Amino acid sequence: MPLRTIIQPDNPVLRKKAIRVHSYDKKFQTLVDDMIETLMAAPGVGLAAPQVAVSQRLIIVQLPNDDDAKAEFGDEAGKLYVVANPEIIKASKAMLEGVEGCLSIPGYVGLVDRHEKITITGFDRHGQPLRIKAEGWQARVFQHEIDHLDGRLYIDIASEIWKPSEREAEEAED
Ligand code: CO
Repeated sequence: MPLRTIIQPDNPVLRKKAIRVHSYDKKFQTLVDDMIETLMAAPGVGLAAPQVAVSQRLIIVQLPNDDDAKAEFGDEAGKLYVVANPEIIKASKAMLEGVEGCLSIPGYVGLVDRHEKITITGFDRHGQPLRIKAEGWQARVFQHEIDHLDGRLYIDIASEIWKPSEREAEEAED
């Protein structure tokens, strides 16, 4: 399973609307495996197929598995979600502001408003229907990844963007 190259915004694939997954064949399974390996190696919490230059509606999300995550997610900590053709079918009116980064935009983070709670439908890697309820940080990650499928990046909607290293340096000076 080779690692795939994570592309940056200078590659137009990242700005395209991705097409729906129609086949859960061997080629698709290889893509899923490669994306998982690429996410682990990055390391990151989420990856969308357009980020590895494949314009298909496929995302993967892995919840962290550290002590904080175990407290927040319980048995779900460390869980890996593979979702093809994800759709947000319900979203809370309530929004939550939080900090996001993106593997396609290394070195930066931004402040982004997201729905606090969402319900997603989609299909697992074998084409079986899925329904996922997510809130807080987990809901944020899913919204970020689903945005990638429509060519949208967090920098398009962030109220503020900065290099974390610079802010830390500023805070150290205060
Ligand atoms: Co991203």
